[in-house]
Amino acid sequence: MLHLVTKHAQLSLQVLPSGHVALVYLGSRIGETDLSYVVTDIKRASYLADTDSIKDFKLEQISQLYPAYGNPDLRTPAHKEVYSDGSRISDFRYSHHEFLTVKPQLDGLPYASGDQTQTLRLVLQDTVTDCELAITITAFYDHDVFTQSVQFTNGTKEELTIQSLQSLNLDLLTDQYDLITLTGAWGREMGISRRGLYQGIQGVDSKRGASGHGQNPFIALADAETMENQGSVIACSLLYSGNFSALAEVDMHQNTRLQLGINPFEFDWTLAAGEAFQTPEACFLYTDQGLNAMSQTFHRFFQDCVVRSRYADKERPVLLNNWEATYFDFDAQKLTALADEAAAVGVELFVLDDGWFGDRKDDTTSLGDWQPNEEKLGGTLNELVQRITAKGLRFGLWLEPEMVSPASDLYHAHPDWAVQVAGRTPQQVRHQYVLDLCNPAVQEYLIATLTELLTTADIRYVKWDMNRNLTDCYSPTLAPKRQSEFAHRYILGLYRILAAVTTRFPDVLFEGCAGGGGRFDAGMLYYMPQSWASDDTDAIERLKIQAGTALVYPPVAMGCHISAVPNHQVGRITEIATRAVVAQQGNFGYELNLLALSEEEKLVIKEQIATYKKRRRTLQFGLHYRLRVYDKENEFAWMKVSKDGTQAIISHVTLLAKPNTVPKRLKLLGLQPELFYRMGDTVRSGKEWQQIGISLPKPTHDFFAAQWELTQTEQPPVLL
Ligand code: DGJ
Repeated sequence: MLHLVTKHAQLSLQVLPSGHVALVYLGSRIGETDLSYVVTDIKRASYLADTDSIKDFKLEQISQLYPAYGNPDLRTPAHKEVYSDGSRISDFRYSHHEFLTVKPQLDGLPYASGDQTQTLRLVLQDTVTDCELAITITAFYDHDVFTQSVQFTNGTKEELTIQSLQSLNLDLLTDQYDLITLTGAWGREMGISRRGLYQGIQGVDSKRGASGHGQNPFIALADAETMENQGSVIACSLLYSGNFSALAEVDMHQNTRLQLGINPFEFDWTLAAGEAFQTPEACFLYTDQGLNAMSQTFHRFFQDCVVRSRYADKERPVLLNNWEATYFDFDAQKLTALADEAAAVGVELFVLDDGWFGDRKDDTTSLGDWQPNEEKLGGTLNELVQRITAKGLRFGLWLEPEMVSPASDLYHAHPDWAVQVAGRTPQQVRHQYVLDLCNPAVQEYLIATLTELLTTADIRYVKWDMNRNLTDCYSPTLAPKRQSEFAHRYILGLYRILAAVTTRFPDVLFEGCAGGGGRFDAGMLYYMPQSWASDDTDAIERLKIQAGTALVYPPVAMGCHISAVPNHQVGRITEIATRAVVAQQGNFGYELNLLALSEEEKLVIKEQIATYKKRRRTLQFGLHYRLRVYDKENEFAWMKVSKDGTQAIISHVTLLAKPNTVPKRLKLLGLQPELFYRMGDTVRSGKEWQQIGISLPKPTHDFFAAQWELTQTEQPPVLL
């Protein structure tokens, strides 16, 4: 038996006499004992063929670690190759393994790292072809998370083609699960979908060249009884930003095979003799403490072990972004006036969004021409930055480096740098093409251009946007047989650029964005510690989007801004207090025209920011709990508890006000039962706040929000 353990979870593998490797156990810790009875107890079903002609040895009944194609297990294999003779079957059996104290790095891909890890490197070999599969599994003891990635080495003397190589395969002996995924669309990202498994294949995948707005590289299986604070869940996330698939296959004997990795669709990877291919890394966890524990485990793991930025644990500034304030219609005077107002209310970072470069008056031109439009900016970029920073603000800039407009100098100079197939008219989306990041010359050009730009002025923040998906996939730099490597090579190119730029500018705070949350994944988090969650800035719409995002990703990674009313996406009017409560669930900022507000409104904003700054550490880095509400369709409630446990911020939002209701109580979580906490003049024990809770105010109108602060305090004197 091979065991990997974390503080609360255990993964146990068994090398079977045949050399196949079985996944015997994934669950809470039960001890590193002999669990071989799990395989021998499996009752054989008829009809399935025996393996190796051993009577009743039916691989399709066995939970395998990394199943191949070419044996009587006819479920979806974890990998598949085409060999030079045209054959596609393989037979990988145990070769050797080692335990490593240092987790190996991944070259050119995001990967997790941390203290207290134990790594198993298990090598399987196909003795007919001499190809090898090295499966690297790491247990992050303190974080209660496992990671896995796979490397395939071509041991033949000829080229071969990999058609599928999943990062993770989990075979489970039951189908009694609910499948949880994140689905949606632009402006409606990250909806939580939960439904019972059924026989067949189900899940999410992306063919868009990015993780996408409509699905996320996350998949979980929860017991039907699993709730926020109780019950079992197995959850997986892929550290990857491109085409992925996350699927659960229920077979005819009620077993579940869960797979996560690069989408085999449009993926054929040619490997020369001796060459290796490395998959992205998947992380996975098991908890029996419910969905709140799942989310908190992911949050802590991503913050501590995945985010590389110096900002991982640094408080993020309150920003003002000019996009919804001005769109493309701004000049130096307007920007300076906005910055004056921003500084006056306590904003710390002024972000200049789209429209500052080339001839960009709308979205039809200039992407790729990253020369500041000095007429619009009233001088050089550096002069504008100096004017803004002189007001005590930091300066941030929007960029969309991966794109080029047909109407741009860059396109005229390098039409071949735009992704397209010669002889066909490429598709434009938002009047733009995608740059061919497979091309090393394009990568070098972008690294040099961004380096120059970030050196010319004191730019402290970059919003890295990406407003369209990949179509017309083709790169002249790839041989014809390698064209189906395009989508993965695009992401490898992107990661190379991101690694170079973020390493060169470690003090710049990078925020990812893809027309909102179109590339919000753990791969991007490795390079950029935060991402714009959605282009829908309506507070009520954001409740669902942010709940889905924070199901997996740290709230501090989620860009959330107060915008104007009526809201620009849905026309809803929500009071500013509610907009603040919702935006403070994540990485807080403003995106509205302060110049159009009354003095009273600006005073409210000033107070909001002042209070926020006092609570910022807890709001950004506190343990995040979803709280139980009475009417799930109409209420949202969550709280954050500071790492030292001394402060908690509780938020509650009611969507529609209803007549003739009795105000209910909101029970809190995450407090120390025996300690005391003050809310205003009221001091009660953690036990009371958790068991009896806060009396909720009666909503007097739609979209009504409330927020409370609890601080740990001494036990009050007992009055006799
Ligand atoms: C899409 C982003 O999500 C918006 O916030 C804004 O930056 C626009 N692009 C600018 O074109």
